[in-house]
Amino acid sequence: MACFGGNDVSIRMEGGKPLGGRIWIQGSKNAALPILAACMLIPGKCLLRGCPDITDIGCMCNLLKSTGAAVNAAGVRGASIGIDTRSVREHRLPEKYVSAMRSSVIMMGAMLGRLGEVCVNYPGGCVIGERPIDLHLHGLEKLGAQIWIEGNHIHAYADELKGAVIDFPFPSVGATQNVILAAVTAQGTTVIKNAAREPEIIELCKFLNKAGARIDYSGTLLKTGRIIIQGVELSRLHGVEYDIIPDRIVAGTYLFAALAAGGRITLENIPIGQLDSICDTIKGMGASIAVDPARNEMVVDACDRDRIVNIPYIETDVYPDFPTDLQSPLLVAACMAKGRLTVREKIFSSRFRIVEELQRMGADIEIKGDTAVVTGGNELEGRTVIARELRGGAALVIAGLCACGITTVADSGYIRRGYQDIAGDFTELGARISYVD
Ligand code: UD1
Repeated sequence: MACFGGNDVSIRMEGGKPLGGRIWIQGSKNAALPILAACMLIPGKCLLRGCPDITDIGCMCNLLKSTGAAVNAAGVRGASIGIDTRSVREHRLPEKYVSAMRSSVIMMGAMLGRLGEVCVNYPGGCVIGERPIDLHLHGLEKLGAQIWIEGNHIHAYADELKGAVIDFPFPSVGATQNVILAAVTAQGTTVIKNAAREPEIIELCKFLNKAGARIDYSGTLLKTGRIIIQGVELSRLHGVEYDIIPDRIVAGTYLFAALAAGGRITLENIPIGQLDSICDTIKGMGASIAVDPARNEMVVDACDRDRIVNIPYIETDVYPDFPTDLQSPLLVAACMAKGRLTVREKIFSSRFRIVEELQRMGADIEIKGDTAVVTGGNELEGRTVIARELRGGAALVIAGLCACGITTVADSGYIRRGYQDIAGDFTELGARISYVD
């Protein structure tokens, strides 16, 4: 694994050249992270194939190791990670990993199920607005966990978890995952109402069912937002091998890069069926998209720049609607299209942090509360800009590929939290781009 560890690099590029070529889409970060946490629950050996080689996955592996699990990673295009949790005994998670990554909070459900207790500090993560964990804690309490806070630490303890009905006021992805993990070995039946419906939730359920859990999501989740879990004995869970799905957000990032910079690119290993709202937006803005389901490939063609225009309005929302994680790449594509786009961010409060950097590059974007109004068609100019969070950082790289002259994206490790090799991928697509120390 090349990228584990995360170091400070900048990404330097000379923009103004359309993209062309083909790239392979890495495994999904947001699917792999909860499945790695789920391994904690399983007293046996698991093998996860196709994990992305990114720092967040390295951080989750370190969290697992800190509990006593044996974790081995190897591979080139994506890592195969072997996890053996038979010797797990430590319920305290080290602050340095928990603070680095918000997803560490989903270890709580798994550790309650496995060890009956867990102690974590408040989790960290990208600075994209208020990210409370009240829904996580409420869900775990409903299952019978006692939770108390001491300073910056959250303690949770359960002699025995008991199935319950949990009705989320908002379908939080992480809280749904946490409750699923805790409910797998709880006594009796758990019903999660208004559960998140993201593909990563379904992947977690599929993985756990393969390992011996009894989770019913198929008929109920997409239609009604309901997940029903029949608790099983911990001893019934067993190790499994599992393939991580391709990353829909990474695929979407490259689709928006082609829309913004122009050109024709082919994406291999795409998550078919998970990109509909993204493809609808890209097609609405004038690019053409062709999918080859037999080969799991997608071609986006944005060569004819006269056809690239803004649609009037888009808002981010929970799956299957337009994902908040692609709102920043969309802003950049909107800067390069003719006309005006209004974008409403409904999921995270501070997700317009790249706007200031884009304005310095010449973008015409106005922010009013949770809404950004982009007037496209202005040329962007190369600048030194700063990545302050993962998806915004990737979007700044796209902006650099569109801009005249040299852009340097100073990045203190954010982009590598989610993209295996963004500069390598864009090099494959013909861009003049490299990492600089
Ligand atoms: C996950 C994804 C992230 C994506 C997000 C929304 C992973 C590792 N991360 O994050 O990439 O952007 O879903 O699709 O899968 N909220 C509360 N209380 C809670 C939990 C959440 O108020 O206890 C709020 C959040 O502040 C936010 C909204 O709910 O406004 C969505 O959060 P959530 O769905 O939980 O996102 P994450 O699981 O953190």
